[in-house]
Order: sequence, then C-alpha cells, then structure tokens
Amino acid sequence: MTLLDQFNRDGFLVLEGFNSSEACDSLMRRALELASSFEVDGSYSVFQTQNQSATSDDYFLNSGDRIACFFEKDAFDEQGNLKYTLFRSLNKLGHAMHDLDEVYNSFTRSSQMKSLVRSLEMHDYVAIQSMHIFKHARIGGVVDVHQDSTFLYTEPASCIGFWFALEDATIENGCLWAKPGGHQTTLRSRFQRKAGGGTEMITIHEEEIAIDEMIPLEVKKGACVVLHGHLPHYSQPNTSGQSRQAYAVHLVDPTAYYPSDNWLRRKTSSLRTI
Ligand code: FE2
Repeated sequence: MTLLDQFNRDGFLVLEGFNSSEACDSLMRRALELASSFEVDGSYSVFQTQNQSATSDDYFLNSGDRIACFFEKDAFDEQGNLKYTLFRSLNKLGHAMHDLDEVYNSFTRSSQMKSLVRSLEMHDYVAIQSMHIFKHARIGGVVDVHQDSTFLYTEPASCIGFWFALEDATIENGCLWAKPGGHQTTLRSRFQRKAGGGTEMITIHEEEIAIDEMIPLEVKKGACVVLHGHLPHYSQPNTSGQSRQAYAVHLVDPTAYYPSDNWLRRKTSSLRTI
C-alpha cells in the first residue's frame, strides 16, 4: 500500500522520525528568540476555540502575512497583566513564519517534505499557513474538535495539514486525537469574515462530531502527522509538567476557489509551494 493509499483510507498518516531532533531543537530555539523580541503593548490576541468573539479582533485577522503572538486565555490576571513569563503565556505564533523566517522556511521546505508532498501528489499545493503551537506545561489549553477545512475553506476541498512534533506528544501533555477513516464525512462548519467586521461560524451540516471512536496519536519528537482537511481531531489541555511544542503547516491547492471571506488572507504573490 502506498502512502497516498494509506492517507486516503485513514485520513491521516503518522510518520515517526521524519525530522531530526536537532531540527526540532532549532525551531524551538527560534520560537524563543522571536517571542523574546515581542513587546506586550496591547496589540496582541488570545487564542481560544470556544469564544469566537475573542478571536475576531484585527490582530488575528491581520496575521496572515505576519509572525504574530497569540496568548493562552488563562495567561492574564484580572488586571490584564501576564501571570507567568511572556514565553510561558504563549499559545502560538502564526501565521506566515514559513515564508518570512529562514529557520521556519528551511524546516518547512526540507528535502523530506518535498519528497512527502510528491508522494501525496500535492507538490503543486501552496503553503498557506504555519503555526508554532507551544502547549506549555499546565497552561496549554484545549483545542476543541474541529476539521481544518472549517478554517481553510476551498472549493473543491483541498486543505491538508502537516503537524510536526517538536517534543514527544503523549496523552498527558495533550497529543492529537482522531478516528481512522473519520475524514469520510461532511464538513460541519465554516469560519468566515462577517460583512460588517469580525468573524462568524456558519453551520454547513448540523450533525455533531462524535469523539468516542477517536484514538490518541501519541508520537515521538520528530514525527510528522499528516491530516486530511475533513478529519475531525482535537487535543486535550496539557495537565502535565512537560510542554508539547508542535509546528503545523497547511497546504491548499492553488487552483481551487479560495473565497475572499475566508478568515485567512495572504498576498497571492507571497504564496509558494513546498
Ligand atoms: Fe487542526
């Protein structure tokens, strides 16, 4: 069975040992450098999946062609001050590191990634979004069950996620959960810009996503998990003393229709393949 057959059957692939430990370390070092140069001046955003209004601000909507910092919802006290160090308060960086930063660019466009996208027949897809997800010890929050095509909607559907474990991902520190074959379902919702500003979640298909048959995708540092855009997945909060850093890149087919009210906007001229 080819990798592509396996991907089409399961809706995901788990490729252990995809990146070297050194490559993972270099990305985590770079994230720390980028975070260290970030000034908390009020122009920041909290990332959470449960409260849409909190993710509707301009900072989030304008992060498509930037490297922006997003904080955990529990990072601030009642006065709005950070409770921990800035680095420990971060939920993620996003959403164009792979095009703007050389360390992220070379990690994203590695020889093994070029070969993987060829095997999956996605070599002409463009890397539209990247995120460095920290999932810090004890503060790293839940990511509710979702389908990535909800956030990167194209017609026909083409969104594919590449999720790289920069540290071991376990049940305790909040690994991914998904159901084999779970991608063979409809897209439930679409996250889009509202005409008057902000964003909204539009229901496409009423049926709820069941999580009872999902299995934990526990992987080692260096693993790559490929996720079909319709595959429902989630991760639990990190209640352990060990962080679970990951880096994710999403690809879409540039020949597919990309609606102008998708939340993520990129300058078309800046879109590049792997
Ligand atoms: Fe996702």
